Amino acid sequence: MSNSDKQILIAVSGSIAAYKACELVRALTKEGYPVRVIMTRNATEFIGPITFEALTGKKVRVDEYEEGMAHIDAKNSAAVMAVVPATANIIGKMANGIADDLVTSTYLAANCPVIVAPAMNPFMYAHPSVQRNLKRLAEDGVILADPSAGVVICGDEGYGKLADVSSIQTLIVNAFRKNL
Ligand SMILES: Cc1cc2nc3c(=O)[nH]c(=O)nc-3n(C[C@H](O)[C@H](O)[C@H](O)COP(=O)(O)O)c2cc1C
Repeated sequence: MSNSDKQILIAVSGSIAAYKACELVRALTKEGYPVRVIMTRNATEFIGPITFEALTGKKVRVDEYEEGMAHIDAKNSAAVMAVVPATANIIGKMANGIADDLVTSTYLAANCPVIVAPAMNPFMYAHPSVQRNLKRLAEDGVILADPSAGVVICGDEGYGKLADVSSIQTLIVNAFRKNL
């Protein structure tokens, strides 16, 4: 694959903010960026793969074992990988080298810049284990799109809301252009 075939790889995990990944993907494709989506199994409880397939025109992979080596295909085509939204669970797995699904296997195999945009309940976000995992990801070179403060859907207030889609988009586009 030549560099010009490289894409933006969006990995969606199982957060209530998954619908915002649709906005992000739409904004990127509208500007002409080549985008490919992979999802965790739990993310499909929130948004169907067919939505991202319609937005990108490309097959969305969820199952690592369905066909070929999906994690290698995904990482080979990626100029940048962005986990949006990133659950506490996926952050914990990424920070600890666990690769038990397509998204986490792709992350470990990826040789491109990786962006993580956490989204979760403020108490989850403030939990020492989540903060420890985020610190570790930053030390590993992951670019963090820090969440903003506000009232989340369950009514709790604090940091944990997914960062603005436009600011995540800017981080992705900058990393994509640099790594082409
Ligand atoms: C309605 C609902 C909303 C959820 N929203 C979030 C969320 O925003 N952030 C988060 O970390 N977990 C959230 N969870 C819990 C995750 O879905 C759960 O931890 C799951 O194991 C994540 O799987 P994944 O990381 O493989 O996608 C939510 C669960 C439910 C039922």
